[in-house]
Amino acid sequence: MKTILLAFSFLITFFFSFAQTAYMPSVENLKARQEFQDDKFGIFLHWGLYSMLATGEWTMTNNNLNYKEYAKLAGGFYPSKFNAAEWVAAIKASGARYICFTTRHHEGFSMFNSQYTDYDVVDATPFHRDIVKELADECHKQGIRLHFYYSHIDWYREDCPWGRTGRGTGRPDPKGNWDSYYRFMNNQLTELLTHYGPVGAVWFDGVWDQDRNPEFDWQLDEQYALIHRLQPACLIGNNHHHAPLPEEDIQIFERDLPGENKAGLSGQDISHLPLETCETMNGMWGYKITDQNYKSAKTLIHYLVKAAGKNANLLMNVGPQPNGELPATALQRLKEVGEWMKQYGETIYGTRGGLVAPRDWGVTTQKGNTLYVHILNYPDKELVLPLQGRKVKRAVVYKDKTLVRYLHSRDGIILQMKDVPSGPDYIIELTLD
Ligand code: GLC
Repeated sequence: MKTILLAFSFLITFFFSFAQTAYMPSVENLKARQEFQDDKFGIFLHWGLYSMLATGEWTMTNNNLNYKEYAKLAGGFYPSKFNAAEWVAAIKASGARYICFTTRHHEGFSMFNSQYTDYDVVDATPFHRDIVKELADECHKQGIRLHFYYSHIDWYREDCPWGRTGRGTGRPDPKGNWDSYYRFMNNQLTELLTHYGPVGAVWFDGVWDQDRNPEFDWQLDEQYALIHRLQPACLIGNNHHHAPLPEEDIQIFERDLPGENKAGLSGQDISHLPLETCETMNGMWGYKITDQNYKSAKTLIHYLVKAAGKNANLLMNVGPQPNGELPATALQRLKEVGEWMKQYGETIYGTRGGLVAPRDWGVTTQKGNTLYVHILNYPDKELVLPLQGRKVKRAVVYKDKTLVRYLHSRDGIILQMKDVPSGPDYIIELTLD
């Protein structure tokens, strides 16, 4: 009897301690998750001092640049052409519904006015303007959500414990001072979440830096709780390349669609959380002067459509130039994708991955009883859609609403199109019973 009682009281204690600490997303947070999924498309902006070296955002560690020498770049950072209103307008016109901006990348430089360091855009540069503030104000004005990228690692600060990167930047002590660094990050996150209005999401990156040191405790739960306390609707995502932790609100994939792993950073299990995958428009996140290898508008549209078909958002990256402008080719692509989104956005926004799983020829997206069949690559007029157990009431070409013939067969629905599907995405709209 005594043992039963003891076991019982143990169970009760266990249950309550769990119930107390387990993260319960707030109503605002759950609503924000839905809206995030409805938005489907965001633009990632990687901008920092590294843009001046024009070789991508990893130059500091890749070339073992001394942290004190590197910091001198700040004295010359004067992006004379920076105009937040122009950036936001160009991004909005692409059809993107949110912007994710690097407030502080691994180089350690803060692109906002921080009271906790002088190594920031207002204090350390002749520009003296708070870039994050100007961007935030403009996003709120033009009605587009703003997300903050925030690096968990820092190749500049002496108190940041070394991981597998940033080891050659000349800082004195590999151990650093975790308590001091952790306090610094939380102070900065508090600034970011209290000085710039509503923040759609915090996008963390860098936890993988300690992957050779699995005991390393990032104290994420406390940090996440701080964010959710300051802005309950703010979504937390972490590019740690693993399945999400319990307090995270979205699941992030890098350079691969959920379930795929071509770049070697993904392949983790797909959770029930809203999904997002990020990809570069050329080959690099930060501005790289020699990289003119931009993906075509068609390829970018395919990424976006395929992400939607896999129930995920696409976060497409642009690396602004040191003079403060977005590269001309990137602007051109934003425009092209925007023209497509203006015409076909209805088949993307607010949808979820459709009943028919992704196929070689394309994907499906769905809103209620409407199933959008996105034919991306198919050389034939007849297409079998493995849609068992559901009857189709009507099938039309999305673009001009002309009727499409179809038959119900044992294998599903056979679409008999008048023409061979053309364009970046030939969309058939099905009304399901
Ligand atoms: C990687 C890189 C980083 C980039 C990020 C974007 O984790 O470290 O430079 O910001 O991917 O997905």
